[in-house]
Amino acid sequence: MSNVLSVGLADRAYDIVIGGGLVDRAAALIRPHLRRPIATIVMDEIVGGLHGPRLIGALEADSVTVQAIEISPGESAKSFEGLAGLCDRLLELELERGDVIIAFGGGVVGDLTGFAASIYKRGVDFIQIPTTLLAQVDSSVGGKTAIDTPRGKNLIGAFHQPRLVLADLEVLDTLPQRELVCGYAEILKYGLLGDAEFLAWLEINGRGVLGREPIALAYAVRRSVQMKAEIVGSDERESAGGQRALLNLGHTFAHAFEAECGFGDSLKHGEAVGMGCALAFRFSARLGLCSEADADRACKAVAAAGLPTQLDQIAGHPFDVGALINHMANDKKARAGALTFILARGVGEAFVARDVDPGAVRQFLIDEGALP
Ligand code: GLY
Repeated sequence: MSNVLSVGLADRAYDIVIGGGLVDRAAALIRPHLRRPIATIVMDEIVGGLHGPRLIGALEADSVTVQAIEISPGESAKSFEGLAGLCDRLLELELERGDVIIAFGGGVVGDLTGFAASIYKRGVDFIQIPTTLLAQVDSSVGGKTAIDTPRGKNLIGAFHQPRLVLADLEVLDTLPQRELVCGYAEILKYGLLGDAEFLAWLEINGRGVLGREPIALAYAVRRSVQMKAEIVGSDERESAGGQRALLNLGHTFAHAFEAECGFGDSLKHGEAVGMGCALAFRFSARLGLCSEADADRACKAVAAAGLPTQLDQIAGHPFDVGALINHMANDKKARAGALTFILARGVGEAFVARDVDPGAVRQFLIDEGALP
């Protein structure tokens, strides 16, 4: 059983197929996108070891010649060096402009491969086969591609939409529980930002999603991807006044803590997003924008998943408030030095708040336990 959703972007519209066993059926799904029977797969050594032979075998069984590129796992691959290495391999393999690159992995592989695809010979097609829950519900859809620099995450990149996304729920069987919880943070984000009914569903069924019950997991992925596809279809490039910025709920806070923690394993992106959502709601309540009851409800939903909601729950505590504010001022959403946050008038009612007073953020973070 699989579901197909679409991102409606005229000549760049594409399908997102969600279901079990898609890797085994990849040849039939990918074939219509190949101009010649050659597929270049980019994956890291971990995904390559776990699932590579299945994807390669499925394509080869359909007479597609596979060229596999393995990169080392981890965020450090999303660097200028990593990009140069990948582009060089693509050149070495003599990929032509009409060829397709397949990103088979989590957010790192998807972001790096997508960016390489956007610039290789001035742009080639790519297909996302996300293997983490976070990549399935967020990063594989919407065409944001990027690498990091020592000055920050995702600062160099491009919008480059994939031609197809295959979200195979069965590959999640091998995903470590901590990674599943990270993906769940992004799922919660959709309920919190724009769908109170979905949040209510997650309050009841979240345990099932985290317990990998197939029906609950499939529904959570489908509803999340549906929301993301609709938002991206209406505001591809995160325009001022558009909907896409709402997908950054929790992210201004999250990126500041991730930066302070060195973007390493001590605080994963999804964990930071969980905490960022809790802080966004508490800050909204502090500013009188939403009720304390809604802020409590948001924090409970985050905590129920085992995600952090308090600063003292994450490595790096106590944080220097000035350092946190500096990271927020360098956020991609910042305009003319003013801080931008996604805040909420209630559960499911997020909005973009520009010109947020840095003094109010500073005091809020100090009250939350940051050092003045
Ligand atoms: N992850 C946020 C976005 O795709 O816009």
